[in-house]
Amino acid sequence: MNAIQILVKEHDSILQMIDVTQSILNERDVSKINMNHVEKIIDFVKNFADKYHHLKEEDVLFVEMEKHGMPHQGGPIGVMLNEHDEGRKYIKNATQAVEIFKSGDTLIYDQIKDNLLNYCTLLTNHIYKENNILYPMAERLLPANVKSEMSNNFKKANTSTVDNEYHDKYLKMVEELSTLYNI
Ligand SMILES: [Fe+2]
Ligand SMILES: [Fe+2]
Repeated sequence: MNAIQILVKEHDSILQMIDVTQSILNERDVSKINMNHVEKIIDFVKNFADKYHHLKEEDVLFVEMEKHGMPHQGGPIGVMLNEHDEGRKYIKNATQAVEIFKSGDTLIYDQIKDNLLNYCTLLTNHIYKENNILYPMAERLLPANVKSEMSNNFKKANTSTVDNEYHDKYLKMVEELSTLYNI
């Protein structure tokens, strides 16, 4: 699998978790929402979608694209970076709201729901743009040797983790939740 294919495959897992999230949040009776599952989703988003996936883009792919002429700001890379930051804000807000919910204030639920649903919409559109516009641009722009080196450099973007263990833990989480919610 080449570097771009790795990223597209990670998008598939993120989109699957987005489906799970939307299915959980469709439940109108708040007492039936499993907050433990919501916390698992937030863990997945912070660690797999953001740290594991977005850092590959920010520290490797975008850097190579900039070296080959794409601007850091003002073009598609700037838009993608802003969207990564926007997603982090939604997840930070959702995390804080979950803590408040767990301390007994269930009225905060709407903030959990709104932030997670906004995140789902943002990331669905973001992934669409990367798969259909940015990644094809990278395929055309980057020389073959750079593209083959990128997979190795991905490992450096994730030095704080044991790659396979990390990857497998979160893929298993997606599968388990997908089965539970019939995704
Ligand atoms: Fe991205
Ligand atoms: Fe991405």
